[in-house]
Amino acid sequence: MAKITASVYTSHVPAIGAAMDLGKTQDDYWKPLFAGYDFSKQWMKAHQPDVIVLVYNDHATAFSLDMIPTFAIGTAAEYPPADEGWGPRPVPVVKGHQALASHIAQSVIQQDFDLTIVNKMEVDHGLTVPLSLMCGSLDPAHEAWPCPVIPLAVNVVQYPVPSGQRCLDLGQAIRRAIECYDEDLNVHIWGTGGMSHQLQGARAGLINRAWDKAWLDQLIHDPVACARVPHIDYVREAGSEGIELVMWLIARGAMSDIDQGQVIGKPPRLLHRFYHVPASNTAVGHVILENA
Ligand code: DHB
Ligand code: FE
Repeated sequence: MAKITASVYTSHVPAIGAAMDLGKTQDDYWKPLFAGYDFSKQWMKAHQPDVIVLVYNDHATAFSLDMIPTFAIGTAAEYPPADEGWGPRPVPVVKGHQALASHIAQSVIQQDFDLTIVNKMEVDHGLTVPLSLMCGSLDPAHEAWPCPVIPLAVNVVQYPVPSGQRCLDLGQAIRRAIECYDEDLNVHIWGTGGMSHQLQGARAGLINRAWDKAWLDQLIHDPVACARVPHIDYVREAGSEGIELVMWLIARGAMSDIDQGQVIGKPPRLLHRFYHVPASNTAVGHVILENA
C-alpha cells in the first residue's frame, strides 16, 4: 500500500526563485537563507519519495476572481511553470501522478471533502519555489524533478478562506486516501507558504518573529491546538498574507499521530527546523517531520 513517510513545510517567495535562477544564492543577502536548506537537499536525495502531494496556493495565476476553488487537486499529466510577468521560470515541467491523484480525489470526496478537479493548470511560485528549495537548481533541458507531484491548491488569497481546523481534517482524509491506494508508494506531503508577511496597506512589511516561532512550536508539538487558531489571529499577528500558514496544517494533519482530530500515536520525528528573516518581505520557516 502507499504510505506517507514524511512531511515538509516551507515558505515560498518569488524572489527566492529569482535568486536561484539568476545565480545569486551565495550573495550576502541570500546565503544564510539557502544555508538553511542544505540539510534538506541532502535529505531529499537520500530519501527520495515516489510522489509528493504538494499543498500550495495559486496567486491569481491559474485561478482569478472569475473562479475561486477552496481546495483543488491536480489530476493532469503535467503542469508547466507559469509566466508571472518575467517569463516562465527556467525549471523543469512538473509531472503529475494521474492515477494516485484520481484515487485521492475519489476517496477524499467520498469522505465529504468537495475537491475541485483540475485537469489543466500552470503552476506559479507557490509550487515551484518549494520544489527548487528542496531539490536545488535543475536545468530543464537535461534534468527533471525527482518524482511526480500532485498539486493541491488552497484558496488563501480571497476571503472566505478555509479554517485551520478544516485544513487539519483534510490532511487526515488525504492520509486515509493514500493508505488505501494499492501500490507500494513512498509519499511525501508538503505544506507551503507563510510565515508572517503583509504585502499591502499600512502594515506592509510586517514580520512577527515571536508569533511565528510559537506557531511553529504548536504546529510540531500540538497540532490539534494549532488548528484552532482563528483567522483573525493570523491576520493580526502574521499579517494579511500570513494566512498562507493554514496550508501547513493539511500536511501536519496527514501525519500518522493524528486521527479523527485527536492525537492517537507517537509524534513524528523532527528532522530539521529553520527560521530566517527576511526573504523579500517574508519570514521564512522550514520544518521536516518524519513519521515515527
Ligand atoms: C512575497 C511573498 C509571497 O508569499 C508572495 O506570494 C509574493 C511575494 C514577498 O515577500 O515578496
Ligand atoms: Fe504567497
